[in-house]
Formats: sequence, structure tokens, C-alpha cells
Amino acid sequence: MTKKILCLLVSAMVIAVASNATAEPIIIKFSHVVAVDTPKGEAAEYFKKLAEERTKGAVKVEVYPNSQLYKDKEEMEALQMGSVHMLAPSLAKFAPLGVKEFELFDLPFIFDGYEQLHKVTEGEVGKKLLKKLEVKGILGLAYWDNGFKVMSANKPLKTPADFKGMKMRIQSSKILDAQMRALGAIPQVMAFSEVYQALQTGVVDGTENPPSNLYTQKMHEVQKYVTVSDHGYLGYAVIVNKKFWEGLPAEIRTQLESAMADSTKFANDIAKKRNEDDLASVKASGKSELIMLTPEERKAWKDVLVKVHTDMAGRIGAELIQEVYKATDFKK
Ligand code: LMR
Repeated sequence: MTKKILCLLVSAMVIAVASNATAEPIIIKFSHVVAVDTPKGEAAEYFKKLAEERTKGAVKVEVYPNSQLYKDKEEMEALQMGSVHMLAPSLAKFAPLGVKEFELFDLPFIFDGYEQLHKVTEGEVGKKLLKKLEVKGILGLAYWDNGFKVMSANKPLKTPADFKGMKMRIQSSKILDAQMRALGAIPQVMAFSEVYQALQTGVVDGTENPPSNLYTQKMHEVQKYVTVSDHGYLGYAVIVNKKFWEGLPAEIRTQLESAMADSTKFANDIAKKRNEDDLASVKASGKSELIMLTPEERKAWKDVLVKVHTDMAGRIGAELIQEVYKATDFKK
């Protein structure tokens, strides 16, 4: 009898250990460079919540915000090596992966607003670009919005002439390089995590970003003027390591895809308001003065900057630019 009980106990323990082993969650490491309280930061947290709920704990998403794990360039390498599984880099950062066409999103004044932008991110061009990542061992799952950029400096930037000789931090995009040069500025590529200090110490004179990034990194505290120019767009593609993603059990992948679809809707629903609120907070802080361009002043920027489209057509592809124009009904 005691032997029988012992046997039963041992088998129960074996089952418990075995089921515990199979219950070990799949870890998804999601690294990004911005603050948690930004459109991307919040959407990453929302994806974590949905993914863990829908897979009933079979997946655990570890989100590493604020360049905690990797800076811009390193996170791309880490994804390819499989040290992280998911990223949402800005579309300006895809050229080092070998898909420079994503830089079309950086063309100044290419989108008038979110509606035009969505014609591309939710249309054929958007799909085609994500497809180009596959040969690089990467899958593009979605586009997440951020917003339209402001320019900041310690002097008022009202006209293109005001940029002459200014050292401006940019992301690693050749289109943004051309944009700053067209304004007579000196572009300087720098990782996002280094921008605040570079502005504070005068390594660079100014920068561009949507208000959500400017405000949450406190850049407005070290920049006296913020020009609301909406001269260009900054947004993201959520990407995963292809081998990792395709190696997931089919049922889990389906649950994660549904979590991603809902997180994408969430991101794109909050982005506009988040940027408006953060711009209002910059104003309320009294630390930097907002410069609102008149339609004439904005037109003067556009006249100088729209030339970048033709100057850089060789890099993006003239045909692709035409496809975007057609999709958005672009007018010079
Ligand atoms: C930047 O480097 O300015 C942005 O790409 C940061 C981000 O991810 O929004």
C-alpha cells in the first residue's frame, strides 16, 4: 500500500515537472529607443498586454524602452542576430538593413497629413516595402504612426535662411541629410539616446522630431525655440526576426498577429492626440517658445525643400516616388 502511494506520488511529481517544463513561456524581447509615454512606447506595452492575454501566458513579451538594451544601430544588428526578436525602428533607419526605399517617408512635405500617409502605409507601396525586408531575414508586421516634425534650436527658425550654418541632428537617412543641406544647415547623424546631451552641450545646435519625442526626452528644456513646421513625417515599421517568427507554433503566431493588428490600431489612434498634447505641454512649460508658421512662411520652406524629391529620386527610385504621388494625390 505504502509502495503504491509512493509510486503515485512519484508519477504525480514527474507529471508536474514535465508540465512545468512545457509551460516555460516563449520570450519575445521587444527593444525600442523612445520613452514609454510616447505613441510607440504605449503601443509596445499594449502589444505586450494583448499578446500575453491571448496566448494565455504561453508568450511573455519583455519590452525594453529608451535604448535600455540597444541604441539605434545596435538594435538592428541584434535583431538580425536574434538577440532581440521585435523592434519598431523609425522608417528613417532602414537603409543600413539594405532597404533604403523606406527613406521615401523622410521626403519633406510628401504627406499633407495622416490621411495621405495612410494611403501609403495601408496601401500597395507600404506592402511592397515590407516585402523587401524578407530577403534580409526580417518580416515587417505593421506600420505604427508617430507624427509630423517640428524643428528646434536656440534661435528662431522661421525662414530657410535661418538654417544657414546650423548644426542639426538627424537620423541616419540620406534624405534627411539632403533636406538639411537644402536648408543650408550642416546635418549630423546621431543616435536618438544621445540627442538631449548633444543639444545641452552645444555639440549640435538643433534638431527635428515630432513633439512626442521632443517633449518626452525633455529636449525643449535645452532648446529656446520650437518651430511648428510639420515639414516631414516620422513613423515606424514593426519588424521581427523571420526565423524566430516562423518557428513559433502556428496557433501562437495567429494569436500574436491578432494582438499586433489591435496594437497597430491602438498606436495609430493615439499618435495624433499624443503629439498635440505634448506640443501643448511644451508650450505650457514656458521653457521654449513655439513659432507657428504662417501659410506663406510654410510655403517658402516647401519651395526650398520639395526639390529634395527630385534631387534624391536616384536613391528612392523615381517610379516609387511617382507611385506615392499617385496614391496621395500629391501637389507641389
Ligand atoms: C529618432 O531617432 O529621432 C527617432 O527615430 C526616435 C524614434 O524611434 O522615434
